[in-house]
Amino acid sequence: MKFARSCPPVAHISVRYIIAGLGPIMIVDREVRKGRSAIFEGNVLGAQRAARSRSIVVVGSGYVGLTLSACLAQLGHEVECTDSSASRVGELAQGRVPVVEEGLTELVGQMLVSGRLRFGTGNARAAAQAEFVFLCLPTPSAADGGADLSFVEAVAVEIGPALRPGATVVTKSTVPVGTGEMLERAIDRSDVHVASNPEFLAEGTALRDCLYPDRIVVGARSDDVARNVADLYGSADDSQLVLTDLASAELIKYASNAYLATRLTFVNSMAEICEAAGADIRSVMTGMGSDHRIGTAFLRPGPGWGGSCLPKDTHALVETAERLGCDLALIKAAIAENAHHNRRVVAKVARALDDDVSGKRVAVWGLTFKAGTDDLRDSPALEIARRLGELGASVQAYDPTVPPGTVPGIEVHSSALSAAHQADALIIATEWPEFASADLAALAAAMRGRVLIDARNLLDAATATGEGFAYSGTGTPAFEKRTSEVAA
Ligand code: UGA
Repeated sequence: MKFARSCPPVAHISVRYIIAGLGPIMIVDREVRKGRSAIFEGNVLGAQRAARSRSIVVVGSGYVGLTLSACLAQLGHEVECTDSSASRVGELAQGRVPVVEEGLTELVGQMLVSGRLRFGTGNARAAAQAEFVFLCLPTPSAADGGADLSFVEAVAVEIGPALRPGATVVTKSTVPVGTGEMLERAIDRSDVHVASNPEFLAEGTALRDCLYPDRIVVGARSDDVARNVADLYGSADDSQLVLTDLASAELIKYASNAYLATRLTFVNSMAEICEAAGADIRSVMTGMGSDHRIGTAFLRPGPGWGGSCLPKDTHALVETAERLGCDLALIKAAIAENAHHNRRVVAKVARALDDDVSGKRVAVWGLTFKAGTDDLRDSPALEIARRLGELGASVQAYDPTVPPGTVPGIEVHSSALSAAHQADALIIATEWPEFASADLAALAAAMRGRVLIDARNLLDAATATGEGFAYSGTGTPAFEKRTSEVAA
């Protein structure tokens, strides 16, 4: 483990876990990487203990809490995950995971069988037994754009008197700067520690991100407290360990998400100019990303960024900054430009349909904010569908994780082809792999129009054009133009 701050290395018992698809989990000991030992293969029931087994309560069985609970149990800890909803707890205790996330159902099931993971209600009861209590609670946007901390505060007040002396309360969900201090006041115990350990997992790759984090960030009032929290992840040898103060840890999370959002807005702006200039964003981004200072990740253009985190966190950061007397003009511009890039997709469809979508049928493939999740929160696809509806188009959509009849105002179909039936135009809004391998001849036969707006650049322009589509990618040159250039 590399240290970002001058502090002595932590003694870790080093076990590294590899999620091998949906199959059994392969465990590779650090000795293997030194070429001295064997690979331990099998299911996680035989998992080696990553670190000294600790008793941990995770409050909140949402996306983050559930993933964290399963991963901490796999790392060898005794974990109880609590939730206020008895029915949700009942489902989870049966191994029924209510979110789409690769490998999570399997890992939760294995950890339940191992006995190291359990679910329950009653935060104070559970917290009374724990050495560490992780708060993984919702922090929805408040009316002013900031984060609503009422759930976090209420749980802190609830568990405060019950906590055992020496316990550490850790915020895991994204909370604004100053939350750690608020927690200290709410708990009001000099014998209890507070730490910030922001999560950086992304939906669709949650287990990998949790078990192989790029970095582990822990903020606390003392290095000892921070290091004790970091030690819970004893396996993450290749991770950067950042031990810092509470406010810096809290800000690292917001800074990271605001940076990613701004970077994507930049990419989408470059895509727009590529279209105007006849350039290809894929080449431009490959060229840019080859600079090691820039890197290749997070350079895919699309219909604007969305999801449960980037939109909420950028707004919350702007609000926090304003409260502290700072004007984050760059982040505000990234937010505004993001809405523009989303509207640009609708404008493209309208242009292709003679500037009038009223009465037209538009198919939308993909409704989730990205592939690999069933999360519809702040989804660019939904915003596109909504705007088209406002303009008088009838929208017929398909998404592999969204059943028909579940999205108010949108006619959701159970297959991509049926959503395209008699459509004048098709928008590919989410990068589900099945869209990349769609049968374009069958698609052309199903549709009555030929407008194809590929907001995620999934399809090959030449193939789509060959099937008679008027194809438009994001930041890619028109196919006809490219061929004429080649001919010249
Ligand atoms: C994001 C961060 O990536 C995580 O590190 C963070 O922990 C998480 O928020 C959080 O705060 O909990 P997530 O919201 O799951 O994760 O999704 P991302 O993969 O970041 O995607 C966000 C949006 O950017 C999506 O709409 C996606 O389609 C878009 N995107 C992403 C692009 O348009 N192009 C890219 O190259 C990458």
